[in-house]
Amino acid sequence: MQLPQLEDLPLVPGTRALVRANLNVPMQDGVITDDLRITSALPTLQWLREQRACVIVCAHLGRPKGQVVPELSLRPVAARLGELLGTDVQFCETTVGPQAEELAANLEPGEVLVLENVRFNPGETANDPGFATNLTALGEVFVNEAFGDSHRAHASIVGPPASLPSAAGRLCAQETEVLSALLEAPARPFVAISGGAKVSDKLGVLRALVARCDTVLVGGAMAYTFVLAEGGSVGNSRVEPEFLDECRSLLSTGKVEYSADLIVTNVPFGVGEVRTVAADEVPEGFEGVDIGPETRERYAKVISTAGTVLWNGPMGLFEVPEFADGTRFIAECVASSPAFTVIGGGDSAAAVRQMGLGDRFDHVSTGGGAALELLELGDLPGLAALRDAAARAK
Ligand code: 3PG
Repeated sequence: MQLPQLEDLPLVPGTRALVRANLNVPMQDGVITDDLRITSALPTLQWLREQRACVIVCAHLGRPKGQVVPELSLRPVAARLGELLGTDVQFCETTVGPQAEELAANLEPGEVLVLENVRFNPGETANDPGFATNLTALGEVFVNEAFGDSHRAHASIVGPPASLPSAAGRLCAQETEVLSALLEAPARPFVAISGGAKVSDKLGVLRALVARCDTVLVGGAMAYTFVLAEGGSVGNSRVEPEFLDECRSLLSTGKVEYSADLIVTNVPFGVGEVRTVAADEVPEGFEGVDIGPETRERYAKVISTAGTVLWNGPMGLFEVPEFADGTRFIAECVASSPAFTVIGGGDSAAAVRQMGLGDRFDHVSTGGGAALELLELGDLPGLAALRDAAARAK
């Protein structure tokens, strides 16, 4: 997929560049617990500063639903950005309006301003034209460096590229290139590993993966609905009975494999009894919390012969250290595979970083939902808006 690049922007020293970044970082008690999304935006921001652009960053944090929620202020993110850039970063307590306009207009070439959380304004998620116009007015060119938010047709994603010369930031361009290459010409066999809690969350993407991949390995709680669909006993495992037909239809393609055995317990978040059982023989009172040893070996064999591996979603309750082994085992198999390996963001990206394996994959996406939606639908509103801007400029 061709996106306009930073070099295509009409930049001269002093041009105001409005950058939509994905700075939706995890925070605990006001402290950033993982700054990957901030560090990932640095190359684009540095490049713009080197061109002597005046850099105005907008982004969201959490889901404040159009209200000012002080805990979701971007102020700590702006401070961290300043530390990482090694420069003073100004912060504006509003996103649009007179204060933002004044601060943006007074920036010197190379300076950086971060605007307050775009989602403090109801117009952001509603894609309100008035809010989009006010935000757009702050810049003379627009950069989408928010691949992870580009599946949202929100004002700050699709508004500015409707009228400003626009480009994808370095990360957005790279994410799009890697993920669209998976859609276009993956090295075969193409193996997808899909985990996570619910079939319903992943149904669209599972259908897309079955259409594009040679094998789809299913783990995590999602697998229990597949077990039930084939008549197995799932005990107290979490299942979604309304999706049994969907699971059967996916299985009928012959491309889907799900857990053969499971680690089960009667107390998932405490000290309980832990057993290894066949996936279709989970005793009453017990529930699945990880893939078992036979499944691990089976999946390892499939992964070892793959040309491309895409992984999204943990294999079990990996946040409980006792039940993280299956996820860790699969992470290590993928990391040591000679295949082209992509981690599809979200929990699996967090899991591999937690395990210190983050740099052993060809690509770890910063956008969970966006990566999956691009794989499912082949395009995202934020990327389409950039292409429209490029077409307009011709
Ligand atoms: C994410 O964290 O996945 C993205 O920033 C999107 O956030 P959202 O799901 O709240 O739109």
